[in-house]
Amino acid sequence: MIVSHKIKQQMEETGWIRRMFEEGIGMKKRYGDENVFDFSLGNPDVEPPQQLKQSLIDTLNRPDVGMHRYMPNCGLDDVRKEIAAYLTEYYGMPFTAQHTYMTAGSAGGLNILLKSILNMGDEVIVPTPYFMEFKYYIESHGGVARLVNTRDDFQLDIQKIEDAITPKTRAILINSPNNPTGVIYSESVLRELAELLYKYRGQGKKIYLISDDAYKKLIYENIQPPNIFSIYDLVISVTSHSKDLALPGERIGYIAISPEIKDVDMLISGLMFSSRALGFVNAPALFQRVVGKFQRNSVDINEYQKKRDVLYNALVEAGFECIKPMGAFYIFPKSPIDNELEFVKILQEKEHILAVPGRGFGKEGFFRIAYCVPFEKVLGALDGFRRIGKEYIK
Ligand SMILES: Cc1ncc(COP(=O)(O)O)c(C=O)c1O
Repeated sequence: MIVSHKIKQQMEETGWIRRMFEEGIGMKKRYGDENVFDFSLGNPDVEPPQQLKQSLIDTLNRPDVGMHRYMPNCGLDDVRKEIAAYLTEYYGMPFTAQHTYMTAGSAGGLNILLKSILNMGDEVIVPTPYFMEFKYYIESHGGVARLVNTRDDFQLDIQKIEDAITPKTRAILINSPNNPTGVIYSESVLRELAELLYKYRGQGKKIYLISDDAYKKLIYENIQPPNIFSIYDLVISVTSHSKDLALPGERIGYIAISPEIKDVDMLISGLMFSSRALGFVNAPALFQRVVGKFQRNSVDINEYQKKRDVLYNALVEAGFECIKPMGAFYIFPKSPIDNELEFVKILQEKEHILAVPGRGFGKEGFFRIAYCVPFEKVLGALDGFRRIGKEYIK
């Protein structure tokens, strides 16, 4: 067998995602693109801001000798300074360039971070539902993902987290606004989490809080998200411009290390080594130069909010149980029948609607709709959801 046993097993675990993707392509061929409502991928349908595209052109037109060469693995100093200035303003904490590290998106950032901090067999607690790639990132670096259910409202269940802590717990990995639920973890629940982690610190155990902030700027109704850096000290945030600046193909993001973490130099050295060992080497040079200036920008959140509103309202009217998303561009309704895999098939066959079963996020009995699609697609699918609601919701 050309692939390893481990990769084969991991591919089998998620094989149905690939099958669904292929079926979606087949359906579009059979019924025409306009008659298929594909909500399966978190790939933004919007374009990056126009000024960003212009800045890219300007950057390319400026004859900066050496701009395409290797650079320090942690990224360009000027860009790190720009990001640190933004972080200082946003979080009210004294970030410097030394607390930042440019990465190939969140995925690249999480991988170099986990590689740098995990010893073989170390455990990372991950609240579910969650972005399932986390499990594979953790396992790639010798760690073990300890999956812990959230509450019915998808907020953190602190008791369950406490029950999952063992002598091997190295970190907790959270993602808020969350993929797949769109929920933002509340300030009070994060404070409870911090209290729990400080209790363990008192017993000599350091647990890092890794915050995947890929959707940090995609927040509705001017909700003020909790300031995670002021709530707990050992925070490492990993973020990206895949969603907020609609640049997923460009692979650009960064890690922000809390100014309260004393051994930051050691961590940066670890990240530098891991970047090389994993072959990322450094974040893309051209896009580093561009995104530094766009830290205070994002795509138009109102476009996503408009889609969230019509979809959420229609689903609730049709009888679906769902938590109203506060951010990101996902909604995670309960499946009207126990087996959500079957339900997703029904949606697909009867209404040509493609969604992802909850088990793809470690939570059976639910399904995810990614509404980062054109508004007309959202509108076009509403009658389908209504018909299905009438037939399957008692
Ligand atoms: C929660 C979460 N983290 C990380 C990623 C990966 O993002 P990036 O493109 O920045 O690697 C995604 C992508 O959908 C995501 O949903």
